[in-house]
Amino acid sequence: MKQSIRKATSLLLLFVGVACLTAQKSVLPVPGTETYQFTVDVNRVGAEISPDMYGVFFEDINFGADGGLYAELIKNRSFEFDHPFTGWTPFGNVTIQTKNPLFDRNPHYARLSFEKEVTSTGLDNEGFRGIGVKEGEQYALTFYARTVTNEPITLRFHLVDAANDLFEEKKVEVKGKDWTKYSVTLTPNRSVLKSTFRLIMETKGTLDLEHISLFPQKTYNNRTNGLRADLVQALKDLKPGVFRFPGGCIVEGSNLATRYQWKHSIGAVENRPINVNRWNYTFSHKRFNDYYQSYGLGFYEYFLLCEDLKAQPLPVLNCGLSCQYENNDPNENCPVDKLQPYIDDALDLIEFANGPATSEWGKIRAEMGHPASFNMKYLAIGNEQWGTLYTERLEPFVKAIRAKYPDIQIIGGSGPGSEGESYDFLWPEMKRMELDLVDEHFYRSPEWFLGSAKRYDAYDRNGPKVFAGEYACHTENRENSFLAALCEAAFMTGLERNADIVRLATYAPLFAHVDTWQWRPDLIWFDNHSVARTPNYYVQQMYAVNAGTHVLSLTMDNEPLAGQKDMYATACLDRNSNELIIKIANTGIAQRRVKMNISGLTGKHRGTLSLLHAMDMETKNTVGCPDRIRPVTTDVEVDGSDWTLRLSPLSFSVYRIRL
Ligand code: AHR
Repeated sequence: MKQSIRKATSLLLLFVGVACLTAQKSVLPVPGTETYQFTVDVNRVGAEISPDMYGVFFEDINFGADGGLYAELIKNRSFEFDHPFTGWTPFGNVTIQTKNPLFDRNPHYARLSFEKEVTSTGLDNEGFRGIGVKEGEQYALTFYARTVTNEPITLRFHLVDAANDLFEEKKVEVKGKDWTKYSVTLTPNRSVLKSTFRLIMETKGTLDLEHISLFPQKTYNNRTNGLRADLVQALKDLKPGVFRFPGGCIVEGSNLATRYQWKHSIGAVENRPINVNRWNYTFSHKRFNDYYQSYGLGFYEYFLLCEDLKAQPLPVLNCGLSCQYENNDPNENCPVDKLQPYIDDALDLIEFANGPATSEWGKIRAEMGHPASFNMKYLAIGNEQWGTLYTERLEPFVKAIRAKYPDIQIIGGSGPGSEGESYDFLWPEMKRMELDLVDEHFYRSPEWFLGSAKRYDAYDRNGPKVFAGEYACHTENRENSFLAALCEAAFMTGLERNADIVRLATYAPLFAHVDTWQWRPDLIWFDNHSVARTPNYYVQQMYAVNAGTHVLSLTMDNEPLAGQKDMYATACLDRNSNELIIKIANTGIAQRRVKMNISGLTGKHRGTLSLLHAMDMETKNTVGCPDRIRPVTTDVEVDGSDWTLRLSPLSFSVYRIRL
């Protein structure tokens, strides 16, 4: 494969232009001379494919939540970062206070004093790598304020561009010595990708300001405290069956104090105590210290999002260990005999998600606006933990959850690697503890992905099922190239073929802001205005929208298709639509001719072919050129008793044929 890829790439250097046209120019395929015989039996229906099978894994990494999906535009809106002015540039006379706060769990607020003789007093906020606003759209500015001196005080609010040119201004008069919430709408007269928010005192006096927040009115479903509509749409278009949240490493935290605590993420947003993000470092900018979790996108919002996406919620909870990579300090492990609060977090979460509105935690859910159960059925305990440190903690969780909630499917982990010592130790332990599913993670090379298309063929069918909870093909440059996507497509044929044991699969990570990322590749890239869906995204989408309901056997020379002549293929049936679905990755540069021998299928049948193809394996989509590569769907008609198809070189094809 690697040789084929290199050959294709070097051929391309001769032929291919630049920029957005790259993928549309292609070299002539090497014609295949042979006809390969594939055999599919439509009448011998195999294992049921989980309706939740293909999903997404969300983590607040790469500005995925704050600065990304969570539509808040003001960074450090409550002045709670370790340096309370991070994100803010104060001018004039501005101090941070904590006396008599409005929100006890976020007690810092800003005090501004303005004497006319002094130059102006106010605050600038830089947003998340700038504040992206669009011409004519409305933005809801809210803040809490009280005057310290007696007279009312007028505040001016501005949006300014990089040249310091003002393009929107509103005024608000603050009256009274009690904390009061104020709201005003900003409507910028032009679109600016990286603007600055500014507030200035216009009249003399002293006042306090707290929780200064700016949201687009057009959030997804126009919700207050809502999510970026374009990013949610990208998720909806993926049709995810399952949604794993709130992350991997951030669940563990750099230490136990900074682990993700779901109870901190519910209730009034103003009083959700912020937490430093474990990814508080950006390799792209070599910048530290401005990545915190506001928890504005908290567990309630995650459950709502799952409902919007029609995806099964799959929360991951801390098991009493912080990140074992980062922290070997035994004091950073919760002793096994002190685990009860952690176990209570798990039991209480199940009640929060599913319990009646009269129960302690169900009541909080109902008060937040959702009396009905979220019907959560999966719960993962621990992320990438390993060794007996993990198993001796996991076991009491399993016992407590089984005793109270026997229907919940509990997910354990097999460690950070796709194989090796931790994996070898943990899998038998997961079987012993009778976990329902085991979360496997693999960030591996193209060679590994292609070589692992048979990974699950020989897995033990009697133990827990598999949740491929984090995976992505990492090429040398770790970009979201077509090369990585095609290897994932080939590998995923093995997930589908083994759908009796592989029940869930989620690519990782999900989101990345182009100006602030810690990790790549990622499924979806975005800036403050736009979104780019990667080739990897389209592979996930092609699987999810063509998931089917039951596996069918597809073979060549009585063997499953897993790399013979660079071809990887699976077949399944969609009982809901009565369609045959065939997915084939051709990872070679030769065109392949395939005769489909489909027992149980005769006569003419209509359908579609969705094709993802490029001859430059480095083809990528960017926010500037988001459509260099995307699947193209065409109508096809096949003769069931005489169907020969031609597989484009370097392609992933999905046929959907009506039976
Ligand atoms: O997906 C990025 C990180 O990779 C996750 O946080 C962690 O679980 C894994 O190591």
